[in-house]
Amino acid sequence: MTTHTIAILGGSGFVGSRLCARLARDGHTIRVLTRHRDRHRDLLVLPTVEVMEGNPHDPAVLDGFVAGCDVVINLVGILNERQHDGSGFERAHVELPGKIIAACRAHGIRRLLHMSALGADADHGASHYQRSKGRGENLVLAADGLDVTTFRPSVIFGPGDSFLRRFAGLLRITPLMFPLACPTARFQTVYVGDVVECYARAIDDAHTYGHSYSLCGPRVYTFLELVRYTARVAGTPRLILPLPDWASRMQAEIFEWLPGKPFSRDNYLSTRHDNVCPEPFPEVFGITPTPLESIAPYYLGGAGERRRYERLRGRD
Ligand SMILES: NC(=O)c1ccc[n+]([C@@H]2O[C@H](COP(=O)([O-])OP(=O)(O)OC[C@H]3O[C@@H](n4cnc5c(N)ncnc54)[C@H](OP(=O)(O)O)[C@@H]3O)[C@@H](O)[C@H]2O)c1
Repeated sequence: MTTHTIAILGGSGFVGSRLCARLARDGHTIRVLTRHRDRHRDLLVLPTVEVMEGNPHDPAVLDGFVAGCDVVINLVGILNERQHDGSGFERAHVELPGKIIAACRAHGIRRLLHMSALGADADHGASHYQRSKGRGENLVLAADGLDVTTFRPSVIFGPGDSFLRRFAGLLRITPLMFPLACPTARFQTVYVGDVVECYARAIDDAHTYGHSYSLCGPRVYTFLELVRYTARVAGTPRLILPLPDWASRMQAEIFEWLPGKPFSRDNYLSTRHDNVCPEPFPEVFGITPTPLESIAPYYLGGAGERRRYERLRGRD
């Protein structure tokens, strides 16, 4: 196997840290750019991983970061913006990929792997998130002189995820009844281990150049089913109250103004369309997608189950 020097933007996040560990196992040299190096010291224990601090939106920082690399991976993404007009999404999902393309060209780097999202659609996306993700994806796929692969996962689960774990946390602090917005929204959750495996296998596979891959797990769930399942495996039985559409929208309008924006109008709009894959898991990667039920109990459950999960991962 050819080993590469790989620059990863967004390498400090949930998917990124798993990807760093996976690529380090293949012997690649990895550089991660983060705005907060102190928060990501865990990455430093990985062999061949170097963590640099800086703002990727600064072209000079980006330039220094990719210099000497032969592969760039962009995982930067946000679910909510500080603003309310879409400009934060535009900056993270469209402007940054534009700067990354320019930095790749300046350094003669051809290989670019880019994280989009299922439902990303520049023209018909219902939310700023979906439209900006779509524009960013179109931009990188159209970049002349670069070998680009993009990935469009549904909601990603796994230890450290911000979806199931967030609901497990909310259920824990909610007495008796849990009001759930958008209960009928449908997702086809995909395991983080499968997502990073696709990246690892795509790097040197010329068949994947110019392609965009939707990534989904084996089953479709409604949001209500996912939260009920989370409550069961996390041992927090609650009465879950499915909210009608008008109340879901109202909840989004209120929560948008809470610290950390736990739910926003843009999130609400993103659930307008089913987040499910149009076709089976892409054959080119030779992966059978992992069921949610075989992983989630290990990190949503108690410490004993977490230890069992770590033992299982050790056998990967
Ligand atoms: N998780 C999912 O369910 C899911 C589903 C579909 C698609 N995706 C996409 O997959 C990618 C990774 O997701 P994730 O769950 O790993 O996200 P995450 O844990 O929130 O990590 C996001 C990463 O992006 C960087 N970042 C965030 N905002 C930024 C900004 N404004 N400017 C520059 N860098 C910024 C962060 O770096 P710092 O260290 O500098 O903060 C962090 O490394 C994203 O593009 C996301 O849209 C995720």
